[in-house]
Amino acid sequence: MASRVQACTACHGKEGRATPTGYFPRIAGKPAGYLVNQLINFRDGRRSYPQMTYLIEHLTDAYLQEMADHFAALDLPYAPPPAPQAPPAVLERGRVLVERGDASRDLPACVSCHGAAMMGVQPFIPGLLGLPRDYLNSQLGAWVTGQRRAQAPDCMAAIARKLSPQDVSALSAWLAAQPVAVGSKPAAALPAPLPIQCGGVMAVPVASASPAAPR
Ligand code: HEC
Ligand code: HEC
Repeated sequence: MASRVQACTACHGKEGRATPTGYFPRIAGKPAGYLVNQLINFRDGRRSYPQMTYLIEHLTDAYLQEMADHFAALDLPYAPPPAPQAPPAVLERGRVLVERGDASRDLPACVSCHGAAMMGVQPFIPGLLGLPRDYLNSQLGAWVTGQRRAQAPDCMAAIARKLSPQDVSALSAWLAAQPVAVGSKPAAALPAPLPIQCGGVMAVPVASASPAAPR
């Protein structure tokens, strides 16, 4: 597999460890279920990046799962984050949104799904640290425009639509400036059920969902 994913490292960095300055997201060490969901999303048109999609458009789910497992198993240190790119008051607004959300707008805290350490949760939820600011801004924007979609119900689309451009900019600036401690990993499980339902994460219990609810 290491040689078969050579083509991927041109953009995702050697061994899937992208730099903090560029746009390309790191893929090493992310939860395998999240990675395979994304590869399927690109292949099936829910996400778009033609220069990458052409490499995977004919691959089967099983093969994409092998690729995802390969990158998920890589355990590589993170580069230090770039210096914060916003004034302290903006960074503080970003931190509060991530850690507490905004109950007045029914906006759940990002940490309630992405994990208290923001490193993601096995097997389907990605971390929010170690990603470039431009990438974070663009993903949240893409969910609003529909250019990025997840399996339904698309909780991130609902969340992104509640965020103002100022919120997004504050969140992204704060997240991109957080260091990732050596040895940080996705959490093994959520401490509490998800605050709202997310497709692609159906194995994870959801607060208030009836167990037999049809989908
Ligand atoms: C031409 C550059 C390029 C190549 C080659 C490439 N990628 Fe990507 N990849 C990207 C970019 C850019 C994104 C983010 C696209 C977006 O949604 O804006 C991405 C996103 C991803 C994601 C989702 C990451 C996340 O955090 O959501 C995965 C997984 C991924 N790539 C895996 C691969 C694999 C596996 C290969 C090799 C088969 C590969 N990529 C080859 C540029 C590339
Ligand atoms: C209800 C649970 C939930 C909440 C709350 C939530 N997220 Fe997410 N988030 C997810 C799931 C699930 C995914 C994976 C979606 C997919 O499979 O494409 C995700 C993916 C993401 C991604 C894509 C990461 C990548 O590598 O491409 C970003 C960025 C993100 N969320 C940011 C946020 C921010 C910022 C907040 C707080 C404002 C937030 N999320 C709150 C569940 C949640």
